[in-house]
Amino acid sequence: TWTANSFVESTVADIQEKVGTDKVVLGLSGGVDSTVAAVLLHKAIGSNLHCIFVNNGLLRKNEFTEVLKQYEGMGLNVKGVDASSHFMTALAGLSDPEAKRKAIGNAFIEVFDKEANQIEDAKWLAQGTIYPDVIESVSVNGGPSATIKSHHNVGGLPDFMKLKIVEPLRMIFKDEVRRVGASMGIDKELLGRHPFPGPGLAIRILGDITPEKVSILQEVDAIFINGLKNSGLYNKVWQAGAILLPVNSVGVMGDERTYEKVVALRAVESTDGMTADWVNLPYEFLQKTSNDIINKVKGVNRVVYDISSKPPATIEWE
Ligand code: XMP
Repeated sequence: TWTANSFVESTVADIQEKVGTDKVVLGLSGGVDSTVAAVLLHKAIGSNLHCIFVNNGLLRKNEFTEVLKQYEGMGLNVKGVDASSHFMTALAGLSDPEAKRKAIGNAFIEVFDKEANQIEDAKWLAQGTIYPDVIESVSVNGGPSATIKSHHNVGGLPDFMKLKIVEPLRMIFKDEVRRVGASMGIDKELLGRHPFPGPGLAIRILGDITPEKVSILQEVDAIFINGLKNSGLYNKVWQAGAILLPVNSVGVMGDERTYEKVVALRAVESTDGMTADWVNLPYEFLQKTSNDIINKVKGVNRVVYDISSKPPATIEWE
């Protein structure tokens, strides 16, 4: 029978046999899969694992610094690369969801390729691909393989694609990944993190992206997510986030008329993201969250709650 401990034991042995004393490069995202993959490889090959964590400027508030610190605390050999302005430039003027995804995917490849090239003699690229990614590798959701595929049309292959691939999680499911992570002592909170899309807040800002919109949405999202955590609701929800709508609405603040942005809150229950139901969050929670957002975030005067299920809606708005 499958147990997390025996999986770790046999996978570590497999990695050691396959990779030997070669150097391996891995892109960390802050998510569960890449983190568990990194810790497994680290267990197998120690400092021959070189991790790269790219800040695309589209992460949650303070996420880059906090998660980087956490990785360092786990003993991983990780380089944090702040490429926010590179991504912002690549996104300038783009509003179409797929155009934004493509620009972000290409920017990631450019940044990652440059960093990976600085690791001398690297022979392998490790990825946190899990079984559902393997069977959906041509999905519109653009996991690593789909992103790389769209780059094939753009020109020559980036250098890191000449690396051999090692994917220690490719035969297991998410719940198993979490169990493997727990058995290696990875922090519970990290393992319980909600899924977060690769293009990050860029697909939760409908329309074009500006640094100002990103920071508004980061504030809103932080209030919502911290509120869920403080109310003991975070772990009852599969995924949650806020969406910045390309709409202004009229409001009133003191004696003044305001004309500011609308945000939508979204929280869903799901097992695999393929179907999802909106979560019946308590009215008191929604009330407090809405007040907090409108009082604290400049530029937002209205909050709505998304009560659409998937299908026919999707989890993200783009
Ligand atoms: P949808 O919106 O298709 O989302 O219902 C299903 C799950 O996939 C995530 N998602 C993405 N993840 N790149 C990603 O890495 C993407 O472009 C992307 N689009 C959606 C979404 O957050 C949800 O977990």
